[in-house]
Amino acid sequence: MRTQVCIIGAGPAGLLLGHLLRAEGVECVVLERRAADYVLSRIRAGVLERITVSLMERLGLDGRLKAEGLVEEGFNLADGERLIRIDIAKLTGQHVVVYGQTELTRDLMDAREDRGLEVIYEAEDATLHDIDGNAPFVTYRKDGAEHRVAARIVVGCDGFHGPSRQAVLSRGTEYQREYPFGWLGLLADVPPCHHELIYSHHDRGFALASMRSKTRSRYYIDVPLTEKVEDWSDDRVWDELARRLPDEAAGRIVRGPSLEKSIAPLRSYVFAPMRFGSLLLCGDAAHIVPPTGAKGLNLAASDVHYAAEALIGFFKRSDADAIAGYSDKALARVWKSERFSWSLTRLMHRFPEDGPFERAMQVAELDYIGSSRAAQTSIAENYVGLPV
Ligand code: APR
Ligand code: PHB
Repeated sequence: MRTQVCIIGAGPAGLLLGHLLRAEGVECVVLERRAADYVLSRIRAGVLERITVSLMERLGLDGRLKAEGLVEEGFNLADGERLIRIDIAKLTGQHVVVYGQTELTRDLMDAREDRGLEVIYEAEDATLHDIDGNAPFVTYRKDGAEHRVAARIVVGCDGFHGPSRQAVLSRGTEYQREYPFGWLGLLADVPPCHHELIYSHHDRGFALASMRSKTRSRYYIDVPLTEKVEDWSDDRVWDELARRLPDEAAGRIVRGPSLEKSIAPLRSYVFAPMRFGSLLLCGDAAHIVPPTGAKGLNLAASDVHYAAEALIGFFKRSDADAIAGYSDKALARVWKSERFSWSLTRLMHRFPEDGPFERAMQVAELDYIGSSRAAQTSIAENYVGLPV
């Protein structure tokens, strides 16, 4: 097969990029290792920044997002007892939209036929070749046969465990921090305990009250990395949430059976640069943020925004400089989102190595945020997403 752009990975980054390129008449194909149903089975975060919503609007694929997404004009930090509301709308004039990543991925998948986006599922062992030349190609196996996609550009949208970054690992620099705890997430068909998100830092640890809709809630607590999800019955999770969330919210928790319950590790990670010859990296293939700032999906969207701009310039206007500038442009926003996610994680969690002084600093910082419009504005503008 011959095309202009070969995209590896059909998660949010790969599908968003594929649709943006097709909408501009740039030929592309997306190779996905898993089956479509498997990709949709992943439970992921659900807060969309402006950039992510605007890409869906640009594609005309925002119908369900507009109908079902929950507009959130504020969110809350809590020091275990007191709710500190960050009034996003008042402080930034913007808002975020709560809409599951799975639903966004579904909308992009459902539009494949109609938009002429070719996605090859169950494409195994994708391998990158000649990425430093002008004629890179990707080989993969499907139905027992070997296939080859010749392209001018390859874009790695294959997530943290995909082959793209591995193909250039020795040529870039890794910046990373692993956190000494994980997040135990629980999904249940019960109404949320509060109409806005609550990030709570209690002496017992972190809790997050989020939602997918007015009838489906998503909760998290941080747990030591040694914990096993099978040791956490639903009741044990509900009890811990009630202890860690402020009373006014905890009192409104509606319990119910978990639809999904899992523990995910937290990591901050950046791989730079994000371009090597004819290979661009987008999304989790290039960086990971702890979920505290709800940045993972939104950073993938801003990478895709920059990559689409560069590729459309290259293929439609023969502008090679656009591709040359991709990595610096994307990384400038990646680093600022990494900083926000790391700083909010540091503020909202108990770290094993922390002593009374560090705890006092966290309490003082939350107290300062509670009393400072400037501090709240800084948090608000990072939460809704810095300008692209
Ligand atoms: N060949 C083809 N596809 C692959 C391969 C491979 N060898 N390895 C991985 N993939 C696919 C995965 O199956 C997945 O569907 O690449 C896709 C990567 O998607 P994501 O991991 O969702 O990454 P991205 O699209 O960058 O979206 C980032 O997803 O993981 C969350 O928290 C993250 O919200 C963020 C968002
Ligand atoms: C979620 O709803 O899954 C969610 C929301 C906000 C976060 C992380 C996860 O920061």
